[in-house]
Amino acid sequence: MVDNKNNRETFSSGLAVFFATLGSAVGLGNIWKFPYMVGENGGGAFVLTYFICVLLVGIPVAVSEFYIGRSTRKNAVGAFDVLKAKPFWKSIGYMGVLSALFIMFFYSSVAGWVFSYVFKAIKGDFLSLASLSMEEAAVNVSSQFDIAVGGSVSPFVWQITAVAIVSIIILAGVKKGIERITKTLLPLLFILIIICCIRALTLEGARQGLSFLFRPDFSKLSASAVLSALGLAFFKLSLGMGTMITYGSYFTEKDNLFATSARVALSDSIVSLLAGTAIFPVVFTFGMEPGAGPGLLFKTIPLVFSKIPFGNLLLIAFFILTSIAATTAMLSLVEVPVAFFIEEKGMSRNKAVILTSALILIIGLLTVHPKSVFGNVVIAGKGFFDLFDYLSSNIMLPIGGLLISIFVGYVTNKDHLSKELSNNGTLNNKGMIKFFINVLRYLTPALLVIVFLNSIGIINF
Ligand code: PFF
Repeated sequence: MVDNKNNRETFSSGLAVFFATLGSAVGLGNIWKFPYMVGENGGGAFVLTYFICVLLVGIPVAVSEFYIGRSTRKNAVGAFDVLKAKPFWKSIGYMGVLSALFIMFFYSSVAGWVFSYVFKAIKGDFLSLASLSMEEAAVNVSSQFDIAVGGSVSPFVWQITAVAIVSIIILAGVKKGIERITKTLLPLLFILIIICCIRALTLEGARQGLSFLFRPDFSKLSASAVLSALGLAFFKLSLGMGTMITYGSYFTEKDNLFATSARVALSDSIVSLLAGTAIFPVVFTFGMEPGAGPGLLFKTIPLVFSKIPFGNLLLIAFFILTSIAATTAMLSLVEVPVAFFIEEKGMSRNKAVILTSALILIIGLLTVHPKSVFGNVVIAGKGFFDLFDYLSSNIMLPIGGLLISIFVGYVTNKDHLSKELSNNGTLNNKGMIKFFINVLRYLTPALLVIVFLNSIGIINF
């Protein structure tokens, strides 16, 4: 094993590490995906399963990725060369590049919806909600969503806008700027979600909404829902595809990898729960369907703010901050193929960014909305949007996570691993490391395999 501590750039402090990592983790996954998946999969039991996955699979895989990144100071493919691993292990990096593209195909589409909602809120499209009855308001926001994302021109334009903005930022390479943006705006988003929650908790359906979110009813939990919870844990924490290997490669020598993983997982989970707390009371107050699918966020949040002073201003701020969270997450996604094309294929940064954006747009435009132009095309029972989401979150990321846990649990040199996890013996965490290695060897891979086999029907319990 080689201790390759070259003079590569690192984040400036532990706090910067925390915010940059959180900037990748917090995104549409918390505000858009988590609530609608909870809604589709029956509520509390899904939430509990999700947290078990974060704890037993997410955190161990996060620590493993940070270890691979920081000890090699390389990208997700090159890191395995530094560790002198057999070429097979590089497939984790290659699959990561593919996963990043698959996620961007639909993520950029949803980011486009969010951007369009900033514009709609500024135009005052939601001002009339204040004078409508609850039922009328619920019908109004639903149809506004269908019109906004089901059209044949505007959703494409917004998706192109989202990809263009991300490409320009990546081209400019304003890493420091991104660090600063996340540091100031993530706390602001946090405060705004708390305001949403406070408002939502004053609604009539608050009790019902909270009990849907927090009371587990395991009769509603299917095998495929368990796989979705696992996939969501990977998607949420940006795991299983090398993003956290890359981020780990910028960590400082002093960062405690266990503490960073736990803090990021905890903060990220709090944001998801707050988003759920803001959304489900609205669902039950306005008589909506919790399983409304990907439109849930867009059909509920305008209602949260509809009848309060400065509601429209808060709505504009909410969608602007959500756009920013989506953008910082997209930057970390796009950086995976861009870094690969530059470092492994010898391309210039400009070429790599243009190629990546072109790929995302050419294929991604197919996903623009399940009900739009390509909505009728069905492959393996799924439209393009669901197909890319399913393949990346439920198949590729868990397989990437399985390979990472096997690699770190069985293949890598344990002295090297212990040295890295204890920061060269300066942290007093021998017991923790031992526990971690055991979890990674037995529990994490076993859970991944069982959930997988169960969801495809090979085993049943
Ligand atoms: N974690 C992001 C979210 O929850 O929105 C999505 C994401 C970003 C997934 C970066 C994967 C990744 F590499």
